[in-house]
Amino acid sequence: MKDEITREERVDNLKGMGCSRKRVEDARFTQGKGNYVDDIKLDGMLFGDFVRSPYAHARIKSIDTTAALEVPGVLAVLTAADLEPLGLHWMPTLAGDKQMVLADGKVLFQGQEVAYVVAEDRYAAADGIELVEVEYEELPVIVNPFESLKSDVVLREDLVAEDGSIPDGAHGPRKHPNHIFTWDAGDKDPTEEVIANAEVVAEETMYYHRTHPCPLETCGCVASMDKVNGKLTLWGTFQAPHAIRTVVSLISGIEEHNIRVISPDIGGGFGNKVGAYPGYVCSVVASIVTGKPVKWIEDRMDNLMTTAFARDYHMTGKISATKEGKITGLHCHVTADHGGFDACADPTKFPAGFMNICTGSYDIPTAYLEVEGVYTNKAPGGVSYRCSFRVTEAVYFIERMIEVLAIELNMDAAELRRINFIKKEQFPYTAALGWEYDSGDYHTAWDKALKTVDYDGLRTEQAQRVEDFKAGKTRKLMGIGLSFFTEIVGAGPVKNCDILGLGMFDSCEIRIHPTGSAIARLGTISQGQGHATTFAQILASEIGLPADSITIEEGDTDTAPYGLGTYGSRSTPVAGAATAMAGRKIRAKAQMIAAYLLEVHDNDVEFDVDRFVVKGAPEKFKTMKEIAFAAYNQAIPGIEPGLEAVSYYDPPNMTYPFGAYVCVMDIDVDTGVTEIRRFYALDDCGTRINPMIIEGQVHGGLTEALAVALGQEIAYDDMGNVKTGTLMDFFLPTAWEVPNYETDFTVTPSPHHPIGAKGVGESPHVGGVPCFSNAVQDAFRPFGNRHTNMPHDHWRIWRTANELGLHD
Ligand code: CDP
Repeated sequence: MKDEITREERVDNLKGMGCSRKRVEDARFTQGKGNYVDDIKLDGMLFGDFVRSPYAHARIKSIDTTAALEVPGVLAVLTAADLEPLGLHWMPTLAGDKQMVLADGKVLFQGQEVAYVVAEDRYAAADGIELVEVEYEELPVIVNPFESLKSDVVLREDLVAEDGSIPDGAHGPRKHPNHIFTWDAGDKDPTEEVIANAEVVAEETMYYHRTHPCPLETCGCVASMDKVNGKLTLWGTFQAPHAIRTVVSLISGIEEHNIRVISPDIGGGFGNKVGAYPGYVCSVVASIVTGKPVKWIEDRMDNLMTTAFARDYHMTGKISATKEGKITGLHCHVTADHGGFDACADPTKFPAGFMNICTGSYDIPTAYLEVEGVYTNKAPGGVSYRCSFRVTEAVYFIERMIEVLAIELNMDAAELRRINFIKKEQFPYTAALGWEYDSGDYHTAWDKALKTVDYDGLRTEQAQRVEDFKAGKTRKLMGIGLSFFTEIVGAGPVKNCDILGLGMFDSCEIRIHPTGSAIARLGTISQGQGHATTFAQILASEIGLPADSITIEEGDTDTAPYGLGTYGSRSTPVAGAATAMAGRKIRAKAQMIAAYLLEVHDNDVEFDVDRFVVKGAPEKFKTMKEIAFAAYNQAIPGIEPGLEAVSYYDPPNMTYPFGAYVCVMDIDVDTGVTEIRRFYALDDCGTRINPMIIEGQVHGGLTEALAVALGQEIAYDDMGNVKTGTLMDFFLPTAWEVPNYETDFTVTPSPHHPIGAKGVGESPHVGGVPCFSNAVQDAFRPFGNRHTNMPHDHWRIWRTANELGLHD
């Protein structure tokens, strides 16, 4: 049989890996046909909303719901007293702590859920909320974790025994009622000794402020209890639908097969939608009580003020080196503000996430990390924002420490990085704090980045600018921000990583239909990352059917195989691997079918793009389409009918993407206004599935990094009031602030991932924040600046210039 089209055309037809296939999701998103949780409308559906605490710390003396219940349309008002008999007034957090579902005797942060009003529509619910009378007795407020550890004020009275002793927490002994855990990694004494005896030591204290990912769609759910069949259906903004189903089953006692959790389209997650929120529990209870579907959707202020934040890390570092700049040791201490409850979404064994990646991309022989978790009167959470499991904090820390060490050594920061990078031949590399980096080629990436931006030329220009400034010829300084990051994504090997005891594997199930099209279902859930596009591309290359003929489905626990969901850039490293492995099972069976059809031995056929060909006789072949039909149409001896496969993939290691970023920034010292002249981002995420989608991920992550570095924060006053609870105060960058990004890449495949791919979604945020921050700091370096804390908004930059005497 002769081919009508060339091999190249057959490859193109598949739209497989490496192709910038247009996003298949966008046809519905751009035409308003997305189906988000707030689009769900069911017969007789009720609305629930919260009475929230205006105080950050207060005792609740009484709650009177009488007037609220008289509002036409209000059907019920739930309080902790109603949930207590069901054992649902508290719920477990993902971090091994417990959290009040509704205020039980006291509130611990502003906006905490106090009562849940259920009404026929959201207007009646809002009227009801106004009329719930809560009598509060204010208590002293603590918003500073250092003060919290010294204070006599006990925040979590539930965690102090009657005799006044302090029981251990989920992560070991607690030394103070407001202390959550102390977690460490590395060698304390040797590190301290190395630093004490070093030729050069740089020390710095930095605060990575509290941030919030602020997804366009806030959190919400619809709970519908079908009392006739005993089935609960829960639609919601869940980044981990299967884990939510298991948690709902465990805390409600409803058997897991009677719970169906569905994540419909999600309008951005970024870690904000990983955890379990009181709104989910209250909606389920309200649906069970009323027998009707109940919807709960946060407004913007609820979302910003009460759902999972990120960062809030106070970090102190010491880094030692020889006079020539070879780093010898690193010490890091962190005081971590977790708010009123520890609701971090880290893998169980890592209460400070992967903060112990803080040695970064450098060959540092000795290191020690200690993290103390502390309760304060702020909202709970901890890792959301391109989830990152604290890698963002770790990379910010080391990339700032490198810069202060460069100042101490009077050395160029790019050169200091270069002489300390882990070398290509050292991979797989075991870092001082325990991680085994799977692969990397940092020098190549760094050299490419510096050459592309003409780094030496930029430094010359900067020196001239300093001269001009000193001579009064300009009021603008120039900063060159550098960052080199190593990410750790793809949680994770089940032996290391679980959440609430659920091992962090992931899955893919494929069914090939007789006519040669297919559906693949995964345990992950896209929130804008384009999984329907890219996972079909992996399969197209693996099984030789066009990506356009493959439907990808995620998010329905009744149909998708169990998986741990999408956050921390784990989808490609874990579910992407499962997809490739399931595809390979399909291919193995297809090979047997092809051999039978071609009347040769199995070993005499080989896969070629979209078909199996007889070795040495390429004119003899069976296409995957023909093989699919034969699987359903012929009785093949020894082979079951059908063409299906499933893979549950437990990755042997994480993947370690990396990147080199450079930012060129002008700063007006009189206004504090920054102008990003150039931003160059080189990312290495191993094998690239869809270059266009990667570019989109990088643009998004960099924009979020810009936001965090240059203005965005969740700030509190001393009374625990959230000062940035609306988009009037919370900086959300728009096209106006966002520069042109230049993207670039190198390709260092992961040696253990079936297709060599590493994650990418989180990388630009992780690498971007220190790059923007370093640009600001670098502009002031010639005038004596060492470190200033983010966010570098105009006011703070002006203040830095002022403190350095640049306004004199
Ligand atoms: O877990 P999440 O989807 O947030 O992050 P990811 O695994 O880094 O993937 C983000 C998007 O980039 C997905 O559509 C991936 O398939 C795509 N990607 C890619 O095309 N090539 C890579 N090497 C990594 C990710």
